[in-house]
Amino acid sequence: MPVIPLIDSNDKNEIYDHIDEQLKILVAEERDYIANLANFSSLLGMLLKDINWVGFYLFKGDELVLGPFYGKPAVSRIAIGDGVCGSAILNKTNHVVPKVCDFPGHITCDIVSQSEIVIRFFKGDTLLGVLDIDSPSLNRFDEEDEKRLSQLLEILVAASMI
Ligand code: SME
Repeated sequence: MPVIPLIDSNDKNEIYDHIDEQLKILVAEERDYIANLANFSSLLGMLLKDINWVGFYLFKGDELVLGPFYGKPAVSRIAIGDGVCGSAILNKTNHVVPKVCDFPGHITCDIVSQSEIVIRFFKGDTLLGVLDIDSPSLNRFDEEDEKRLSQLLEILVAASMI
């Protein structure tokens, strides 16, 4: 098991480059999907700045069910169309939410959360679920986060047995 080094940088691209390297090391040793989702949540929780929750909701049947995460306990099931996560599935789009209290139907899991990003991920055309990250700061996430996180999810899915 590798020791994950911290990174002394506030540069978003440097931080994502570091996460990319560490993720590749982690998934090179393990193909189990849930183990990789769990370690990826932990990696993001440890290395991203200014976040208070990161984790997965997995698409099961006709709803989203809580998967591996880093942070406080959260709602277990989200119906398609509900909250930011369920809306991302219904509307077939990722969501970068600068101010969660302005998002209609946002589901509060931790009152400190102020902004949020929800990214869908797939194996081929099959929807697997969403990655959800919350921040205690307003306007924490942007399109660069969306792009870099989507690339990391592709690495994770490609390396895992699903
Ligand atoms: N805020 C999400 C619910 C999950 S928690 O943030 C962990 C939503 O509105 O879907």
